[in-house]
Amino acid sequence: MGIKTVGIVGAGQMGNGIAHVFSLAGYDVTLTDISQDSLDRGLATIRKNMDRQVTKEKITAETRDDAMSRIRTTLQVTDIGPSDLIVEAATERETIKTAIFEDLQPHLKPETILTSNTSSISITRLASRTDRPERFMGLHFMNPVPVMKLVELIRGIATDEETYQTMLQVVDSLGKTAASAEDFPAFIVNRILLPMINEAVYTLYEGVGNVRSIDTALKLGAAHPMGPLELADFIGLDTCLAIMNVLYDGLADTKYRPCPLLTKYVEAGWLGRKSGRGFYDYR
Ligand code: CAA
Repeated sequence: MGIKTVGIVGAGQMGNGIAHVFSLAGYDVTLTDISQDSLDRGLATIRKNMDRQVTKEKITAETRDDAMSRIRTTLQVTDIGPSDLIVEAATERETIKTAIFEDLQPHLKPETILTSNTSSISITRLASRTDRPERFMGLHFMNPVPVMKLVELIRGIATDEETYQTMLQVVDSLGKTAASAEDFPAFIVNRILLPMINEAVYTLYEGVGNVRSIDTALKLGAAHPMGPLELADFIGLDTCLAIMNVLYDGLADTKYRPCPLLTKYVEAGWLGRKSGRGFYDYR
């Protein structure tokens, strides 16, 4: 089916980035969140990031204005029901995601495709709670969405071929590259990235190196754009811990045991950039 309208749930770090790239690619976007404040902050971030692209001459001011004019906001999740494609980018909690899809269901067109930007929750399980598991997929963007070229496409056990082919085309139309993953805990990127970050926290915990030496080692020694601890702060330490727990529980292997220091930081509310403190101090 031809996708023209996209409803995005969640105007946070991921949701506003997803709205940014869909609107720039010419889609009509409706963005929803639970508070006006979140919507206002989401729109302001999109505007700021598009301004940055104008300054860097990646897009023209006219392209930015056209894209911004294609983004509509609403506090009623049901308003996005008539969209051709739904992208759920709400808080990474299964109960919240399931409730959103349940609320949306009576307002959806039969052909609408449902997707979730979940970084680790089972697509098969989320899909099974909807009326259309064959038209349900994981659509996992990377942060920062406007910059990162990859989108993971995850098929649940029931996802049909037509939905998969449609979503491959959608990813392509965004100027991004798809990597297809089967539905196993944390998919591909986080299955590999998060154990590395967790190992960096163990390296710190065991005193092998300090925060700066660990990050410098990986940046200059392995050409990573950010060191693993800096990246953990960027992703959010609560998100990192949640993904490690999904790996640990889902694969039942002690190699995925979250580092106790990561748990302690999260318990302290040191969640990284978003809380002002993580492995680095941002205050
Ligand atoms: N919107 C638009 N453009 C942006 C942007 C944004 N939010 N953030 C950065 N940019 C642009 C900048 O304008 C700049 O553009 P030019 O190349 O034209 O100069 C470019 O991106 C690089 O940015 P900066 O110069 O400000 O800073 P940098 O060189 O340090 O790069 C970075 C910043 C792109 C974030 C880089 O450090 C990086 O790639 N880090 C790793 C990010 C990463 O690994 N992400 C994946 C996280 S895992 C994940 O997302 C999955 C999950 O589920 C947890």
